[in-house]
Amino acid sequence: METYHIRGPVEPQDIRFRCDSVDPLQLANIRSGLKKLHTFEIMAVNIYKFQITKQKNALNQIIIQAMGNEMTHVQDFQIKLYEYGARPGTFRWTFWLAGMIIGLTSRLLGKNAMIKAGIWTEQKAVTDYQKIIQSASWDSDTLAVITHNLQDEYHHIETLQGLLNT
Ligand SMILES: [Fe+2]
Ligand SMILES: [Fe+2]
Repeated sequence: METYHIRGPVEPQDIRFRCDSVDPLQLANIRSGLKKLHTFEIMAVNIYKFQITKQKNALNQIIIQAMGNEMTHVQDFQIKLYEYGARPGTFRWTFWLAGMIIGLTSRLLGKNAMIKAGIWTEQKAVTDYQKIIQSASWDSDTLAVITHNLQDEYHHIETLQGLLNT
């Protein structure tokens, strides 16, 4: 369990008001990119959340872990949205719903379908992250968060691919 880290509490000094530290012409792109990332991660959390069963097996363990990891991504982008004076997307509930439907349906279809739904989500995340990174001139802190989370998504794809047909 050495690698089990619980994130420390967010301290007030961890929060920065970032609007004045970027080119004002970039603000709309930055806010739009963060909204997309936040909304997408809400869907990812729900896909895994609705795949969780009461079984005490390795798959359920991994799915719960995956949900937890995606929750940290939601947290990161939600904070960044507010730092940029923006709010979460109005229609994010549609992605919440889509996540629930994908999660429940894949759970009903069995283990491989669940894993494939996860791989699809993670691959879509990678494509979206790459586009969003290119879509704005990011401040270095925010870019570091996005690229860190993108690396997480690559790792998630590998983990899930290793579980297919096992
Ligand atoms: Fe994610
Ligand atoms: Fe992920």
